[in-house]
Amino acid sequence: MTGAIFPGRFAGKVLVVTGAAQGIGRAVALRAAAEGGRVLFVDRADFVGDVAAEAGGEAAAFNADLETWDGAEAAMRHAADIFGGIDILINNVGGAIRMRPFAEFEPGQIDAEIRRSLMPTLYCCRAVLPHLVARGGGTIVNVSSNATRGIHRVPYSAAKGGVNAVTQSLAMEMAGRNIRVVATAPGGTEAPPRRIPRNADGDNPDERQWMAEVVEQVKQSAFMHRYGTIEEQAAPILFLASDEASYITGTVLPVAGGDTG
Ligand SMILES: NC(=O)c1ccc[n+]([C@@H]2O[C@H](COP(=O)([O-])OP(=O)(O)OC[C@H]3O[C@@H](n4cnc5c(N)ncnc54)[C@H](O)[C@@H]3O)[C@@H](O)[C@H]2O)c1
Repeated sequence: MTGAIFPGRFAGKVLVVTGAAQGIGRAVALRAAAEGGRVLFVDRADFVGDVAAEAGGEAAAFNADLETWDGAEAAMRHAADIFGGIDILINNVGGAIRMRPFAEFEPGQIDAEIRRSLMPTLYCCRAVLPHLVARGGGTIVNVSSNATRGIHRVPYSAAKGGVNAVTQSLAMEMAGRNIRVVATAPGGTEAPPRRIPRNADGDNPDERQWMAEVVEQVKQSAFMHRYGTIEEQAAPILFLASDEASYITGTVLPVAGGDTG
């Protein structure tokens, strides 16, 4: 499940991909490795080691909770230690935990969404900077969401709006150091059943209904009226990560069948 391959596109590059145990992150990391990159697969799920083993070659895995600064810092340090530096960081950890009208969110649930979908990107961007500067430059691709405009997940929308702000402001700040910062904003994406659920407590009947309303809104908002595939998300992430995108920075690219978020 790696999509089309451009052999050698990432030859000589070290990539760190976060949230690489499943979903979009897994597809991105496997394809980057297949295209010649040395890839650190980072996730808090133990089985990320098995996923990195599928890539073979020089891929490696690292367990970290990226909702903590210590986890983010340790992951970047580990990549630099084993591969001798970092060229590309793909900040993919995130995802709405709960779908509910904003009036139904409890304060602790709001905090949890921000911790999941903003803090890992903010911490990992900060933690990778010294490594990219030491390398003379590099690229950060943030996986945002077009759900910055969407129903039943206002805290997640706010977190991803924050990711977009980090992308643009950091790009402006770091352009002079040869560091590009870009993002994709995926729309609804079909995925196989998740080994790690977004909401460890499971969804109650109300939440399943609200989720169904979200799916309807997302399909209506897309010109194409359908969900994308994981491969359709991995491809633009890797294009933006590659040297083919060398004159693109600060851009948040909607990948959502016509919905611009
Ligand atoms: N799937 C979609 O429909 C969709 C749509 C728009 C945006 N996105 C974005 O794409 C990205 C990937 O989405 P997905 O659906 O593939 O995700 P997913 O929920 O299927 O997988 C997320 C991965 O991140 C890991 N992870 C979660 N919290 C972590 C933490 N604190 N520390 C380390 N690892 C952690 C999980 O273990 C899991 O392997 C997310 O940022 C999400 O917001 C997804």
